[in-house]
Amino acid sequence: MNNKPIPVILDGDPGHDDAIGWVIAGACDRLKVLGCTAVNGNCSVNKAAYNAQRVCALINLDVPIAKGQRKPLFIEPIKAPSNIHGESGLDGPVLPEPKRELEEETAVELMARLLNESDEKVTIVATGPLTNVAALLITHPEVKDKIEQISIMGGGILYGNWTPAAEFNILVDPDAADIVFKSGLPIYMAGLDVTEKALVLPEDVELIRSIGNPVSDIVSEWLEFFYIFHKSIGYEGAPLHDPCAIMVLIHPEIFDIRDYYVEVETSGEYTKGCTVADVYNVTGKKSNAKCLMGVDRKKFIELMADYIRNYSEVK
Ligand code: BDR
Ligand code: CA
Repeated sequence: MNNKPIPVILDGDPGHDDAIGWVIAGACDRLKVLGCTAVNGNCSVNKAAYNAQRVCALINLDVPIAKGQRKPLFIEPIKAPSNIHGESGLDGPVLPEPKRELEEETAVELMARLLNESDEKVTIVATGPLTNVAALLITHPEVKDKIEQISIMGGGILYGNWTPAAEFNILVDPDAADIVFKSGLPIYMAGLDVTEKALVLPEDVELIRSIGNPVSDIVSEWLEFFYIFHKSIGYEGAPLHDPCAIMVLIHPEIFDIRDYYVEVETSGEYTKGCTVADVYNVTGKKSNAKCLMGVDRKKFIELMADYIRNYSEVK
């Protein structure tokens, strides 16, 4: 087994679940985070970038951070209601102020530079709308060869959470998602099919809290905040959407992963933003995505807790 750390760029719109994914990534020595980029999504890109800086400060992740696309490629942004992630995009506990300034480069320029500078191929983990990633592929086609894979939180084979057919990240920028799914690059798709099974129940929150380090204190409060909205719509716990896109890179064995050919509906009265998967391979097309369809939930929680425990050693 190759134990070399996997170089990753974290692109997202933190966001409680993005932030918890970054906490896991920052604690895992099997991953080497090269940089973080923010995109418009749960909140404005300005708020997402500031949240990215604060999350990096919390976990002592000293990597370049850049602000990305202010709006989707061709359409206007959707404003997510503030009861999910709060006004700041990451409401709840008080977070440390940024330790590192934003880069002057845009997210796309930073991604391109990090890819060019890397000796190895790099994995992009995208946990917000795919605007930055698509803009990178359009404007810097030369870096495509340096991308190992794109691990996405987005979509859902069987249903949506923003419309009956579409999940939020894909619905915000379906054109960007379409470009990414058609890119020919290897894709992991952590859609709602799996992420809604990665539930953190109230007793799991207590487990995290009992770890008793500064990061576990914050994560347990994030989980509580994130659960308030989900509880109000009938969930038994907080769905850890975005951490699935990180966890699959280091623990693929805990997921049920299926190869499907997936296309993104970019228009359509009822289906805009839908990720349409050819589950029975009726088209005969070669799969373009490894789709996560299930997870060993208990194992997922145990692993998350183990990674958060690593922060007990951080001074
Ligand atoms: C996605 O939307 C956001 O609210 C979450 O951070 C996640 O990336 C789930 O639909
Ligand atoms: Ca997100």
